[in-house]
Amino acid sequence: MKAAITGVGHFTPDRKLTNKDLEQIVETNDEWIISRTGIKERRILEKDKGSSYMAAKAAQQVLEQTNTTADEIELIILATVSPDSPVPAAAPIVQEALNANNSWAFDLNGGCTGFIYALSAGSQFIESGKHEKVLVIGSDKMSSIVNYKDRNTCVLFGDGAGAVLLEPSKNDELGIYDSILHTDGSGANLLYIEGGGSVHPASHETVEKEMHFICQDGKAVFKRAVTDMAEVSAQILTNNGLKGNDIKFLIPHQANLRIIDAVARKMELNPDQVVINIERYGNTTAGTIPIAMSETYQENKLEKGDWIVISAFGAGFTWGSMLIKWAID
Ligand code: UT7
Repeated sequence: MKAAITGVGHFTPDRKLTNKDLEQIVETNDEWIISRTGIKERRILEKDKGSSYMAAKAAQQVLEQTNTTADEIELIILATVSPDSPVPAAAPIVQEALNANNSWAFDLNGGCTGFIYALSAGSQFIESGKHEKVLVIGSDKMSSIVNYKDRNTCVLFGDGAGAVLLEPSKNDELGIYDSILHTDGSGANLLYIEGGGSVHPASHETVEKEMHFICQDGKAVFKRAVTDMAEVSAQILTNNGLKGNDIKFLIPHQANLRIIDAVARKMELNPDQVVINIERYGNTTAGTIPIAMSETYQENKLEKGDWIVISAFGAGFTWGSMLIKWAID
């Protein structure tokens, strides 16, 4: 039995932070940001709200779209690197907000690959016959962990969430076909938040040293992302006997336009086969793929039976790709 995506939704906050706004905050400029990353603006959530708020909004849209009541949901998997607080996980807060009283719920931290890990995990519960309605959500309030004094990172990230409903596929030709998932912990010190965990618990010192913010060696991450994300995206085609022109869309993680271009080249795709919204949202970490999928669906660009590849690379290092045959009419 295959798992199929039967609904998809997203939520992005209204407030925009443009490259021009960032020019007032750090030494940067619109031209540098656009040419190096492709980003023009990103969205910023209100201070007093957390990732669970955006996750619940995105999930609510999916429930309405699919005429599903909250108490029918059996499992909620929330991919995030920015839970509302370290304990409890944010997924129980989403469960409560939705009134999904018959579900169990957990967070999954797979960095920027979080949504792919979560979709893969969720699909196993469907394929095994254990559950029939699983919500998979990617939500990150990156503005809560970004240092707006560090121009190397603050221009890259934004806030947002997307969600899908997984159900048993009514037609075995449609649904999630394959996934390739990887982790390489030797990259753990190249993209990280050092403070606030069990090794460096929050203290005056960790805050003074700004260890609660996200740090990355951009160049090193870039090199690995280009190579590994391209490799895994081309591999999933080969493994399933497909070529670039069989694919309707690559829906990639949106970290850098140059990384996306490299992946598309390796898969031998035309520009119109690649979904890109990085210019409007920047990198929303676990949110990028479901947001892009939801926008593509809402623009009526997806038809039942279309082949889609999703792929990502992120902190861990983590990376992976999935092959999906679109199941929604
Ligand atoms: O999703 C999780 C995975 N994360 C990623 O995939 C991110 C991967 N990395 C990247 O996307 C790129 O490495 C960046 C966009 C972060 C940086 O681009 P780059 O082409 O690798 O630039 P760089 O780090 O080599 O910096 C080039 C120059 C440096 O100046 P010098 O040393 O050449 O004088 C930087 O200090 O650009 C400078 N720079 C900036 N200038 C203006 C760095 N950030 C900025 C900035 N504005 N915001």
